[in-house]
Amino acid sequence: MAATPLIQLQDVTKVYVTGQIRYEVLKQISIEIESAEYVAISGASGSGKSTLLHIIGCLDTPTSGSYRLKGEEVSRKGDVELARIRNQTFGFVFQSFNLLGRYTITDNVALPMVYRGIARRARTEKAKTLLTRVGLSGFFGHRPSELSGGMQQRVAIARALANDPTVLFADEPTGNLDTKTGLDIIRLFGELNAEGTTVMVVSHDLRVAQHAGRVITLEDGRIIDDRRHAAAEPAETRTP
Ligand SMILES: Nc1ncnc2c1ncn2[C@@H]1O[C@H](COP(=O)(O)OP(=O)(O)OP(=O)(O)O)[C@@H](O)[C@H]1O
Ligand SMILES: [Mg+2]
Repeated sequence: MAATPLIQLQDVTKVYVTGQIRYEVLKQISIEIESAEYVAISGASGSGKSTLLHIIGCLDTPTSGSYRLKGEEVSRKGDVELARIRNQTFGFVFQSFNLLGRYTITDNVALPMVYRGIARRARTEKAKTLLTRVGLSGFFGHRPSELSGGMQQRVAIARALANDPTVLFADEPTGNLDTKTGLDIIRLFGELNAEGTTVMVVSHDLRVAQHAGRVITLEDGRIIDDRRHAAAEPAETRTP
């Protein structure tokens, strides 16, 4: 018998109602995602990418349909339970880095561990390990504003890894970065995936799709394509 998929959506819909207008943003979405996959979600603006990511990341709930996470139905859980699932199972990276300017980057990365009751010394130690992992070992005491955009996004990624997430979600993580810096971030996701983290990235950046092992394409709230391929290094970065 096949193992239970990490993520299993069956006929998921999301409907927004404003006044008389009923808008079906997601229509009968059924997908399975296995542990340690690297999935890119592509599609035109408004196709429902962020909505889908938010539902899978338990930031939002479906209007109808089933969402099983590690076999457990989560589509009807309440806010408190969803927050617990997010904190224990997921890490999030967004287009805007959402770092706290008053704190050092070490404290920013340590923050999610506070909610898990981890002691200060252990938090700081782990934050430094994660910052080293994303290439920021020389900047522990700096504040976000002292760093470049690419470095700030690395801090956000380190923070997303603070509680050892099963799945790392990113929504347009390179949207505020220049081309070269964006590529560094994309490669970092590839490395984290190679180390065993399940990665799910929404992006307009075609290089993300090149890097991912699977690309799901949405159009008007439906999956119109879902293909797996061997992840390729974007051509311009191949070493001669
Ligand atoms: N809270 C809401 N109420 C009403 N409509 C919404 C709401 N959130 C999203 N939508 C609509 O749902 C559709 C899909 O939105 P979504 O943000 O998922 O698209 P997207 O593919 O992420 O687009 P983009 O590439 O621009 O980020 C859009 O038409 C959007 O206007
Ligand atoms: Mg979006």
